[in-house]
Amino acid sequence: MLTLVRFTFPSKNHLAEKPSMSQHVSLDRRSLLTAASAAALWPLANIRIAEAADRRTRTSNDPFQLGIASGDPAPDGFVLWTRLAPDPLNGGGMPAENVRVRWQVATDDGMKNIVRKGVATADKDWAHSVHVEVQGLLPDRTYWYQFEAAGEISPIGRTRTTPAADVMPDRLRFAFASCQHYETGYFNALRHMANEDLHAVVHLGDYIYEGGMSKPRPRQHNSAEIVSLDDYRNRYALYRGDADLQAAHAAFPWIVTWDDHEFDNNCAGEISEQPDVAVSDFLNRRANAYKAYYEHMPLRRSTLPHGPMMQIYRNISYGRLAQFSVLDTRQYRTDQPCGDRNKPACQGVFDPNATLLGDVQEKWLCDGLEASPARWNILAQQVMMARVDRVPGDAVAYSMDQWAGYEAGRKRLIQFLQDRQIANPIVLTGDIHTNWVNDIKVDFDDEQAAAVATEFVGTSITSGGDGGEKRKDTDGVLADNPFVKFYNAERGYVRCEVTPQQWTSDFRVVPIVSKPESDCLTRASFVVEQGVAGAQRV
Ligand SMILES: [Fe+2]
Repeated sequence: MLTLVRFTFPSKNHLAEKPSMSQHVSLDRRSLLTAASAAALWPLANIRIAEAADRRTRTSNDPFQLGIASGDPAPDGFVLWTRLAPDPLNGGGMPAENVRVRWQVATDDGMKNIVRKGVATADKDWAHSVHVEVQGLLPDRTYWYQFEAAGEISPIGRTRTTPAADVMPDRLRFAFASCQHYETGYFNALRHMANEDLHAVVHLGDYIYEGGMSKPRPRQHNSAEIVSLDDYRNRYALYRGDADLQAAHAAFPWIVTWDDHEFDNNCAGEISEQPDVAVSDFLNRRANAYKAYYEHMPLRRSTLPHGPMMQIYRNISYGRLAQFSVLDTRQYRTDQPCGDRNKPACQGVFDPNATLLGDVQEKWLCDGLEASPARWNILAQQVMMARVDRVPGDAVAYSMDQWAGYEAGRKRLIQFLQDRQIANPIVLTGDIHTNWVNDIKVDFDDEQAAAVATEFVGTSITSGGDGGEKRKDTDGVLADNPFVKFYNAERGYVRCEVTPQQWTSDFRVVPIVSKPESDCLTRASFVVEQGVAGAQRV
């Protein structure tokens, strides 16, 4: 059903400077007029959605203030996302009815050559979010997309399909990022990321932070610590209103997973970090957190939450070049041993029943790796896998929230990678607001042991505020952990270029996040040659 309909949309070009929410006020009249005339070009024939209201639904403000997004690319399509929210910070502001949303996909940035279009429902019970799973497109192609609802048109987004499963692509370019605390700074790194030449963005979690308002900081949260569904929705709306975040979403498909702050700091399975929180209360809160997460992310229906359960682990492949195993180290883990935080290893660290992944996900991961035809096998996950001693000198302390606190599971996985000779395992990590490059070994005490995998830990977008190249502990940590090749405390993201022969990671850093402008530079680059685990600085 290839449809060729020619439209001309006069405004809201893709990747255009997107006004912030406050700027929208002065633009409303003009954008309403342009939007109304442009919306008249959308065909109304052959559209029957029984429950969805249509032309009678009008909003007083732009319903696309939270932007647009795409994600989970496949060889024949991707997810398109938006959420109608004319009053984003106060529950969204939509009437309590389902609303029709038209969408279309084109091969050009002017939206002239339309190759797919349709109608979706913005469901009132899902915060008027829209998740369209587009199919029938060509592999390894750039496409543009746009929505129309309530008489308004959205900005135009750009996205891309993945290569066909049996093809060895020349290269894959992507960036990965994590930890974007709104209060601690501006998303300057995301603005720079939006201007990169990428096929996709991988987000490793801490997309929002659940905490309340604190002063003084460059920006402020919009409520006390979030607990209810409305709280989580309004918090996502605050973050999603950011122009730099919107620009990065509009530029590339995103592959997302969460860490702890999308729900609650250092959460472990059904256990809160705070004492005396009843499991039922904690799971009710998790259901709110997961629902709001789904409502605000370009995820497939296969990820739809069921109460406090939501399967976010999944595979995404780029032909025979790369396979992302996107992991969830929060939902199924056992409690952190030794009372959490940085500690010498207590007995709980070696508990054979302790797990970060849970049995089902671990089996799924190993099965997927064994079956993978990919040259590079990427674990896109949250917490550091290298067993790093964080205290310089004779004292020893490992983070009990990371793989180091779950030694049996860590060893089992790395031994599996070694025994089954999984091709070029690369671990991508977020969580700790610092950049690291680590050799991954079964036994980190054996200095002679060869690396089995390579870990790139990406720093935060903002969390921690303005960073610096070195910390007080930098030299000591590097001296104590010979498998650590790089340790840096600036803000930014990691840009990766993957070819059949070589992996390159560029640590892109922004010196300033406390103000809304900053340079962006490559602080260091590391290369992994195919067939040889461990990165070399270039
Ligand atoms: Fe974080």
